[in-house]
Amino acid sequence: MQFNQIVIISITISCISVLAIDVDPLKSVLWGPGLSPAKITMRSRYFFIQLIDSEGKNLTRSPTGLIVQAKVTGLNKNNHGCRIWTQVLDCNDGSFIIRYKLFETCYNLNIKVVINNEILPAGSIHEKGPVYEEECYCPNQSVESWLKNYECTEEYHQITEDLKIFPSVNFDELRDDLIKEYHKPHAHSFCHYVVKDNRIYRNCYGQHVGFKMFSDSILLSLARKVRLPDVEFFMNLGDWPLIYKIKKAYPMFSWCGSEETNDIILPTYDITESSLENMGRVMLDMLSVQGNIKTPWEKKIEKVFWRGRDSRRERLDLIDIARKNPDLFNASITNFFFFKNEMDKYGPGEKHTSFFDFFKYKYQLNIDGTVAAYRFPYLLAGDSLVFKQESKYYEFFYHHTVPGEHYVPVKHDLSDLVEKIKWAKSNDGEALKIAKAGRRLMRDVALPRDVFCYHVHLLQEWSKRIQNKIKVLKGMEEVSQPIYGCECVSNVEKKKVKSELKNEL
Ligand SMILES: *[C@@H]1O[C@H](CO)[C@@H](O)[C@H](O)[C@H]1NC(C)=O
Ligand SMILES: *[C@@H]1O[C@H](CO)[C@@H](O)[C@H](O)[C@H]1NC(C)=O
Ligand SMILES: *[C@@H]1O[C@H](CO)[C@@H](O)[C@H](O)[C@H]1NC(C)=O
Repeated sequence: MQFNQIVIISITISCISVLAIDVDPLKSVLWGPGLSPAKITMRSRYFFIQLIDSEGKNLTRSPTGLIVQAKVTGLNKNNHGCRIWTQVLDCNDGSFIIRYKLFETCYNLNIKVVINNEILPAGSIHEKGPVYEEECYCPNQSVESWLKNYECTEEYHQITEDLKIFPSVNFDELRDDLIKEYHKPHAHSFCHYVVKDNRIYRNCYGQHVGFKMFSDSILLSLARKVRLPDVEFFMNLGDWPLIYKIKKAYPMFSWCGSEETNDIILPTYDITESSLENMGRVMLDMLSVQGNIKTPWEKKIEKVFWRGRDSRRERLDLIDIARKNPDLFNASITNFFFFKNEMDKYGPGEKHTSFFDFFKYKYQLNIDGTVAAYRFPYLLAGDSLVFKQESKYYEFFYHHTVPGEHYVPVKHDLSDLVEKIKWAKSNDGEALKIAKAGRRLMRDVALPRDVFCYHVHLLQEWSKRIQNKIKVLKGMEEVSQPIYGCECVSNVEKKKVKSELKNEL
């Protein structure tokens, strides 16, 4: 019956739709952390729905006339309706993202997903609660149970690789030397962090330490949910990795890695912040990029769309190539800073384009900026084909990506770019397959949950290697949790957490 209903709708609404798309709502596949709201706390909890047709096959686009709704309701501690904001994102590929944000602690939380008036059993969740909001200080889980509850991967290849040269670390023996060697205020900025008893302390070095707000905010957020291991580490706040392989191997956490350096990689501040702020003040995140693209593959303009600042020579070279091949490119430098003297030649910059509008174009290009371009995961998560410049720089998830499978590689000097675009134009089916594989991969390895898991896993592994006693050192400043009132009750550590909370607030 569902089938008939949709046939009728698609015939009446759009005469142009060639094929009636059938869908069996009850067969839909649901997955994601948002289906376990009590176990997994995030600013916005999310889950996916994959639509399935009557033969059990995945739909690859959203049928016209299909209505997917999600209701998330609950009660706050005063038995009033809980304040919750819910969003349904249509990924236009047969899948939907549901995400919801709690503004307060909720009890008796009910999630209901309805597709064309049919309630999905798999999307009907009741959780007695309490279900906490992101801001609530409630670290009632040990690292082990947190990793399990969040269903984190057991091994992170990049972490294993990065930590190989640090089987054990004694900061008492290297701390002062590291600081002496890298404390060059005009060149480097980094912070020395200590996490002790789930409280965060740091001392920062360098002239531009503003980016400490990013490392602070992820540590504070995690400490609200899990009892972090006691650890000590150094966090590089600059773009460039610092610890060149030819020099002494000091342990330094960085947002970007390179083949020439030994820095220990964390997810970039950009993807970390957008994971934390999901449905908050950051518009672009790994979920919104999937749900705000409205141009289907066959309607996309068959050109490379590129915008960016002038942070690398090849970006200017791209403008030369684009001018020679206007039928293949819409490329423009948005800001001049590094090559101001060439502004006349390569300018003027186009006005700002919303990132979501990039995907009106079939082809996207990732060229390094000062280091790896942090937009790569967002480009992959979209539904266009991504060309990526070969590069020595990488981020925490890059080792999962396979050239030719998730993106099309192009030479570092872009000399084969035009040829590769022409290949894509004449191999459209293959291009679409790669585009889809890229998006699927990002869903598996670069969503907010993965970003949080990566941090906790690294801190846990790191703590196992530290030989010295973890102490708050002289001169360190505490990064305190913001003042915020909520009632944290936990089944196991109820008393302990409560009394600590009292001390804290
Ligand atoms: C159908 O979609 C689900 C969810 O994305 C995925 O796990 C599965 O591999 C897909 N099946 C096929 C045959 O593509
Ligand atoms: C390039 O893209 C911009 C922004 O979408 C658009 O305004 C402009 O018309 C495009 N240029 C060409 C030549 O298509
Ligand atoms: C933490 O709190 C959640 C929500 O109340 C609860 O489901 C979970 O069992 C608690 N975990 C521990 C270790 O107390």
